[in-house]
Amino acid sequence: MFDPQQVKKHFPILDQEAHPGKPLVYLDSAATSQKPKSVIEAMNHYYLTDNANVHRGVHVLSDRASELWETSKGKVAQFIGAQKDELIFTRNTTEAINGIAYGWGEHNLQKGDVIVSTIMEHHANLVVWQELCKRTGAKLLVVGLQDEAEINLAEFEKAVRQPNVKLVAFVHVSNTLGTVNPVKELVSLVRKHAKGARIVLDAAQSVPHMPVDFHQLDVDFLVFGGHKMLGPMGIGGLVVRLNLLKSSEMQPWLFGGGMIQAVQAQTATYSDDLSERFTAGTPDVASALGLAEACKFLDNLGMENVMKHDFELVKYAFMQLSRIKGLKIIGPKPKNYNRLGSVAFIHDSVHAHDLAQIIDSEGVAVRSGHHCTMPLHQACGWQATTRASFNVYSTKTDIDALVKAFDRVNQIFGL
Ligand code: ALA
Repeated sequence: MFDPQQVKKHFPILDQEAHPGKPLVYLDSAATSQKPKSVIEAMNHYYLTDNANVHRGVHVLSDRASELWETSKGKVAQFIGAQKDELIFTRNTTEAINGIAYGWGEHNLQKGDVIVSTIMEHHANLVVWQELCKRTGAKLLVVGLQDEAEINLAEFEKAVRQPNVKLVAFVHVSNTLGTVNPVKELVSLVRKHAKGARIVLDAAQSVPHMPVDFHQLDVDFLVFGGHKMLGPMGIGGLVVRLNLLKSSEMQPWLFGGGMIQAVQAQTATYSDDLSERFTAGTPDVASALGLAEACKFLDNLGMENVMKHDFELVKYAFMQLSRIKGLKIIGPKPKNYNRLGSVAFIHDSVHAHDLAQIIDSEGVAVRSGHHCTMPLHQACGWQATTRASFNVYSTKTDIDALVKAFDRVNQIFGL
């Protein structure tokens, strides 16, 4: 296991005061993680020494930039257990999900078809399907929860047994509840009852916190964002099973330069090279490089160690926060890696935003609101929640600072 205090030294941003006399304690890593120096330096170095457009020139810089783009793609793909050609870089997780809707959904769904998702999804994994249903006439079934913490498996099974289920989309680790979903069980229910249905796994909150292997998970699409896994903002990934890409079941959804084979005034054909076919326009080479560097940083720590560290923090935060009078922790009780990444809570007499603001006045950054999971909040009758979330540089001392900030909450509210 690594020493998070040592790891923290790689993140210069964390070494500052949030307010005079109040050192910054960053517990908002689920919203975005901080970036190690090596990621920032790799991107700077690219712009200082290697910048050119990729696959569009024969000169030395273009060659170098193309090489960096391709090797970065290879590194990121390897990190998530995919082949290089299976990875399409996008701007973020949301854009990757939209890519499935436009590149796959529009060509494979029709009136009467069914999409299954769950109530614990991030808005990106619901709204995109709502819109796809409007365009295709398909119907969206949203599976509920058990104990306000886990996907209701009986309801999930019932949903995927419906006729014409063509797409099933669910999250790996919930950004609000912290729940780690039983992907294996969910996938086997889909494969058993909805033969031929495609599976989308939203791995935005799992890739930063645990080992993730696309092929082992046996899903058809996997989406993630770079900025939550120590990489830069502005880059994410859509991983698509190679046979879907090769059979044209998945088609390009962005058109223009860089992805064509030949263009005439009225028609065009598209590149057979999968790396080009799905990358229209000038790509963000520096961000790809930064993301590859983030993968190397995580590889050096070891994802098993990252997961252990994260789970220790979740257990500790759960235990310490549970002792605070009036506080209810949402999501499952930590046991056998069933939750990762965050601990969110509700105070019985202080609104989530007030809590976050007072906690911030003590130097501790947390997020309050619905965390882009409004349907989950509605289903559980929560107006808003406050969330502390972690990454490799988070420590038990950070959690102690959060707990201590409640003294100020109690003082202000006279509790
Ligand atoms: N989806 C991000 C979060 O959970 C922004 O905060």
